[in-house]
Amino acid sequence: MGTARVVFDRWDGRYAERMANVRSSAVRDLFAAASRPDIISFSGGMPAVDHVPAEAAAMAAHDAIMHERECALQYGSSEGRPEIRSIITELMAENGIRLSPDDIVVTAGAQQALDLLAKTFLDPGDVIITEGPTYVGALQAFSAYEPDIRCIPMDDDGMRIDQLEAELRKLGPRGAKFIYTIPNFQNPAGVTLSAERRRRLLELAREYDILVIEDDPYGRLRFEGGHVKPLRALDDEVIYLGTFSKIFAPGLRLGWMVAPKPIRAKVLLAKQAADLCGSAFAQVTAERYFMGTRWRRVLQGLSRTYAERRDAMLEALDEHFPAEARWTHPEGGFFVWVEFPSFLDTGQLLAEAVEHGVTFVPGDGFFPDGRSGRNCMRLAFCYAQPESISEGIRRLAEVIEDRLELYRAFIAAGAIPAPEVA
Ligand SMILES: Cc1ncc(COP(=O)(O)O)c(C=O)c1O
Repeated sequence: MGTARVVFDRWDGRYAERMANVRSSAVRDLFAAASRPDIISFSGGMPAVDHVPAEAAAMAAHDAIMHERECALQYGSSEGRPEIRSIITELMAENGIRLSPDDIVVTAGAQQALDLLAKTFLDPGDVIITEGPTYVGALQAFSAYEPDIRCIPMDDDGMRIDQLEAELRKLGPRGAKFIYTIPNFQNPAGVTLSAERRRRLLELAREYDILVIEDDPYGRLRFEGGHVKPLRALDDEVIYLGTFSKIFAPGLRLGWMVAPKPIRAKVLLAKQAADLCGSAFAQVTAERYFMGTRWRRVLQGLSRTYAERRDAMLEALDEHFPAEARWTHPEGGFFVWVEFPSFLDTGQLLAEAVEHGVTFVPGDGFFPDGRSGRNCMRLAFCYAQPESISEGIRRLAEVIEDRLELYRAFIAAGAIPAPEVA
């Protein structure tokens, strides 16, 4: 992405080979620029934590220490406290997933669950299937275990199941270790897997005897359209990942995994090696918050805020972005995915965009090969205020327009072929 800086590293040659496959996350790299007050950030998927009532959060943390100090400040069980697991059970039941607290392992965010699953399942060269583009953090977690990642493209209804089927046919039964999917308001594409495709995906997974990992951080952030049943509600063998990051606060680093019993046992072994147990303090704080406050109303308010920001972004895109661009229309979540003609490399626009006071994430970071998606960008609408969103999109459109004008001139001169119009 952009200009590569070569940094001398005197420990070069001593790192494990697998680390060569792990690329830095463009989102994390942009964190410093995105935090500058003069920059309008469309890069990080940062929840609007200013909407979490400070008194309620403070009270929960205070009570955790004052009333449950012996637990909150102590080591806990690796699977997590029964109390938080029973709250998770209730949250999941509202989504049509019936569980017992024993089905759940509490993790340090869904991110840890991804890492633990990779550690538990992947040997070098193992095939796994993901959507393309997919979540950068999943690519990072998986890549350290050196899998062969096959990406299935998406359209407005999520993963193209015909292409999944074609891939599975090539691979044969048990030809992949797992299929990783983000069915709701996908990160980065913003699209949702349709009910019909969910059923078909599960049928194929059964037919080819391949595990399914359903990562669902945004499922409760639907602004419009009907609820679509989670994969786990349709099939008990699906591994489901949830998180408190988007319904409370990512600062707690609290998420969960639902998995069949034998898989849970293996994951717990991996988790004990990673951290012995999760933060008891974070768990007690979350318990207090979810038992004692009007968290539902807070979440509704958050959803409304994100919906307004989504609307502001779609309106601004309509107004300012060039006719050559196409973008998704998410019904929830945090992200819009924009695609440009293949000659535009969004990575080359980033430095200029930052100079103009706006950031985005170039599309290639969301693909394991680092080449696909160069003509795409992810725009996060979750964090900026609506007025800033309009202004940010206007600034970004200027940067893009400059570049496109150059290409249009090349095309007019016949120096490069005109793109096909869909
Ligand atoms: C698809 C997806 N999975 C997992 C995560 C990680 O979430 P957590 O904060 O629970 O680790 C994110 C965070 O943005 C995400 O978008």
